[in-house]
Amino acid sequence: MSIRNLDDLLAEGVSGRRVLVRADLNVPLDKQTGDITDDGRIRAVLPTLSALVSAGAKVVVCSHLGRPKGTPDPQFSLRPVAGRLGELLGAPVHFASDTVGDSARSTVEALADGQVALLENLRFNAGETSKDDAERGAFADQLAAFGEAYVDDAFGAVHRKHASVYDVPARLPHVAGRLVLREVEVLSRLTGEPERPYVVVLGGSKVSDKLAVIEALLPKVDRLLIGGGMCFTFLKAQGHEVGSSLLEEEMVETCGNLLARSEGKIMLPVDVVAADAFAPDAAHDTVPVDGIPSHRVGLDIGPETVAGFAAAIKDAQRGGPGGARTIFWNGPMGVFEMPAFANGTRGVAEAIAKADAFTVVGGGDSAAAVRALGLDESAFDHISTGGGASLEYLEGQTLPGIAALEK
Ligand code: 3PG
Ligand code: MG
Repeated sequence: MSIRNLDDLLAEGVSGRRVLVRADLNVPLDKQTGDITDDGRIRAVLPTLSALVSAGAKVVVCSHLGRPKGTPDPQFSLRPVAGRLGELLGAPVHFASDTVGDSARSTVEALADGQVALLENLRFNAGETSKDDAERGAFADQLAAFGEAYVDDAFGAVHRKHASVYDVPARLPHVAGRLVLREVEVLSRLTGEPERPYVVVLGGSKVSDKLAVIEALLPKVDRLLIGGGMCFTFLKAQGHEVGSSLLEEEMVETCGNLLARSEGKIMLPVDVVAADAFAPDAAHDTVPVDGIPSHRVGLDIGPETVAGFAAAIKDAQRGGPGGARTIFWNGPMGVFEMPAFANGTRGVAEAIAKADAFTVVGGGDSAAAVRALGLDESAFDHISTGGGASLEYLEGQTLPGIAALEK
């Protein structure tokens, strides 16, 4: 891959130069208080920002947060993120209350060498996500005016053909930041010739989101373990009744076909935790998958399944000895946000952490689960900051943000 990276830019010298950094500071916020509930993505971009600060650059950071509709929407303001970023950097972050307007211009103008500014949410501007090249381009022109060089460290957004990701690098000298570089290194190890046995663990709510990655990975893996809300569509395809659990009726046939040609690589739950309602205090029991009561909703995989999945990781080489040497995990096994339904995710995460393997956690919810459950992050070789981005990379898709850096 012929991408220049941050070290190339630093070698040219950035002291006194304005450097525009696209970060993915799209962190989860508490619905009631607006507090940042997981600052993993902010911490992940610190190596790049600190290096630029130390080298004396004027650092202009931009990001999206949530999915506002092209116009300012206070609930998606990046202001709290500026505060947290400042704490982590140990220096104030100058916050612009718009993205490319008067506040942004004067904030960028006032930056001294080694100082950091954060612009307001990119998606407060319709040009950021526009499908129209000219509209995106016009917005990209305004953004590009804030930098003499561009660093993409927003791995979580590289699958988006958005102005800040795709069009700005066409307008400025551009490099990949430390995070993007590391993410691509790790994921290319999973798509190239991963050391086998190779085990993939998938969860999360929807089969339809994971179908392409299942298709792409099935030929490469030794085992594919499936839990989370998506397992019920597979269980239905196996002929089980799933009560009021999540079900994608239109995907049942597809799941059946996948099972039929998976050569036994796909492992499904044998028991689940079924509850009266989708609520933290709902009455619940562990039941075998052929005994899910019609009024109940499956909210987690059961203990026997956890034990089975752990055993499959330990003995991944079917028909021979050998634990997994490479493991990729994306998607929680149950509703881990509710303690009663967190045991599946915790148990599987612990089994992965213990494995003598190269272990990668796909971003989004599974990364959040690792931190929310208080698991040791350092027990995994890599925790991706990209949910959709890491899946699309593993599907073998061309990612607009990476393609733009290659040019
Ligand atoms: C994410 O959280 O997956 C990234 O920040 C991308 O956000 P998006 O799915 O709203 O484009
Ligand atoms: Mg390990």
